[in-house]
Amino acid sequence: LALNYFKLAAQSGNANAMAYLGKMYAGDSSAVTPSNKTALQYFTSAAQSGNAIGYAGLGLMHLQGRGVPASPQKAEEFFGRSAELGYAEGQLQLGLMHYTGITQAGIRDLKKALKYFTLASQQGNTLAFFYLAQMHAAGSGVLRSCQTAAELYKNVAERGRWSDQLMEAHRLYKEESGSAYAALLRYLFLADSGYEVAQSNAAYILDQNPEAFFPANESYSRARQLWSRAAGQSYAQARLKLADYHYYGLGGPANLEQAASLYRAASEQQSNAQAMFNLAYMYERGLGLERDLHLAKRYYDQAAEASADAYMPVMLALCRLAVEFVMDYLRAATT
Ligand SMILES: *[C@@H]1O[C@H](CO)[C@@H](O)[C@H](O)[C@H]1NC(C)=O
Ligand SMILES: *[C@@H]1O[C@H](CO)[C@@H](O)[C@H](O)[C@H]1NC(C)=O
Repeated sequence: LALNYFKLAAQSGNANAMAYLGKMYAGDSSAVTPSNKTALQYFTSAAQSGNAIGYAGLGLMHLQGRGVPASPQKAEEFFGRSAELGYAEGQLQLGLMHYTGITQAGIRDLKKALKYFTLASQQGNTLAFFYLAQMHAAGSGVLRSCQTAAELYKNVAERGRWSDQLMEAHRLYKEESGSAYAALLRYLFLADSGYEVAQSNAAYILDQNPEAFFPANESYSRARQLWSRAAGQSYAQARLKLADYHYYGLGGPANLEQAASLYRAASEQQSNAQAMFNLAYMYERGLGLERDLHLAKRYYDQAAEASADAYMPVMLALCRLAVEFVMDYLRAATT
């Protein structure tokens, strides 16, 4: 469809469409058989109308000697025109030529490289951020600064194609039976990069299939660590699961105080009804904190308010609590 519409637009003289056709024929698309000659023709027509994308395309063809003899001089000239018109890809390529020293002059010019990488980065060009980071990390052309380099690298990391990988993992898990392991591996990889969704999903797969991929003790221990990382990013469901793991001693020692404090965090910060209910139960039974029937009632009430689903279990718990109040009263009266 893109090919079809670009062709229509190019026929009525649209230079952007010509440039994009050039990109498609240069190998950016599987919709056409790549051809250096055709790409060159489209880039040339676009450039004849002063089109920045067309100039950048011509620059690349001349740099790589595709359909024309390789010429750094011409490449530099075309990238220069493209960069002047504000096209980020042209700025990046010109920066790269100066950075590597593959220019007409044949020498590296780090000042110019810095200038063009900076211009391209201001338009959000990911590779430009990367090369700026390299320059700041190594102190080439600039004062060495690890802090600036780290900030720039972070910019690169956050612009990665993680969302595609998350979708792929999700698709594997949902659509293909027997692909849970492949999905798990992808989630684990992304979890290591700090993605909370991936941490939670990897933990979930391990939690639901504790014996499928690892021995159960190892699955729970990995899941506990993953829930803990996701909980650290304030995900309520992960806090709840981590609290459960501490309550039941899954993947590590049981720790009721820790469980109570995690249920409390999920109750108070995210109004999670299940967490409120569990916290109430711990107050009712004096598990991990001092038994307190009034606080138990308060959290049961809050759970019922927070979620309609909690109504029945809360009613049952409140009935039980009413009996316990009476028992406590009688016990106090008889001693
Ligand atoms: C374009 O030219 C380059 C360099 O000569 C060559 O490697 C490549 O195979 C050519 N592509 C096509 C589609 O002819
Ligand atoms: C799981 O159990 C096995 C065998 O009892 C033990 O060798 C291994 O260290 C345990 N792994 C963890 C993570 O606790």
